[in-house]
Amino acid sequence: MAPQTPPATLPSSVLVTGAASGIGRATVVHLLQCGVRVIAADRDADGLSTLVRESGGEIASFVCDLAQPAARAQLFHEAAALGYEGAVNCAGTEGRPDALVAQDAETLDRVLDVNLRATVHALRAQLLHLLPKRRGSIVNLASIYGLRGQPRWVVYSASKAGVIGLTQGAALEAAQGGVRVNAVAPGPIDTPLLRRATHEQLQRTAAMVPMKRNGQPHEVVQAIAWLLSDASGYVTGAVLPVDGGMAAQAATQPELPSTESLSTLEPST
Ligand SMILES: NC(=O)c1ccc[n+]([C@@H]2O[C@H](COP(=O)([O-])OP(=O)(O)OC[C@H]3O[C@@H](n4cnc5c(N)ncnc54)[C@H](O)[C@@H]3O)[C@@H](O)[C@H]2O)c1
Repeated sequence: MAPQTPPATLPSSVLVTGAASGIGRATVVHLLQCGVRVIAADRDADGLSTLVRESGGEIASFVCDLAQPAARAQLFHEAAALGYEGAVNCAGTEGRPDALVAQDAETLDRVLDVNLRATVHALRAQLLHLLPKRRGSIVNLASIYGLRGQPRWVVYSASKAGVIGLTQGAALEAAQGGVRVNAVAPGPIDTPLLRRATHEQLQRTAAMVPMKRNGQPHEVVQAIAWLLSDASGYVTGAVLPVDGGMAAQAATQPELPSTESLSTLEPST
């Protein structure tokens, strides 16, 4: 008897940004193991070289700071020339988690430039490449902090809420064009981004999760791979939490800055 559910098929080639570390790196390794050709982009040249050296499979790598308009335009031009049917927009930065009033303007702008502005331009370039083919799947990296406010992560939250709006609106525009656009919204995942926090902060973060642990990159990769594959062929505009239950609870028990630390702040430009 023929199986009622056909096996999931991944796109034959996928563009991954933020490929040198964490969730992006784990995504690239998984896709290569599945026989997918990967176009990997990151600003971290050493991290990319290590990835290419250590992973088998067909991989083209591009060193690119996605916050730089000319560099990212060049990347999207070269990626289109190689051709791809799927994209994962993973490049992101946490900035410097602290109270909004304690932040410097340069760091705030950097978070918005990398997490939101670069994702807007990436998504536009990817749609321009995929819509004429009437086929493709794009996955953006949002965050639980894009779904919920979080002290000390205010601009990061805003950037990821922007990614969610971008995902939903673009999904509607592309819905009849054969291209699906979705997002994953991870909770705390054990990557270099998270490990830049102190041990104590990491323990507090895990305690906010209903499952009482931080997630592993491969647990996000499974969701990304499903959204890339035709197994999710009727899913677009979705924002899939991969967060040990955080999005389901009423509050994330946020770590509030003390009023004492706020009152000692110098005005910042
Ligand atoms: N780790 C978590 O807890 C977590 C939770 C929610 C969402 N996310 C999101 O997932 C994505 C991946 O995060 P991660 O935890 O793997 O982080 P990570 O720091 O391990 O990896 C991020 C990668 O993005 C690259 N990158 C940063 N700025 C760039 C730029 N301007 N141009 C090109 N590349 C750039 C970095 O070099 C790095 O390789 C990010 O968008 C992040 O916001 C992570």
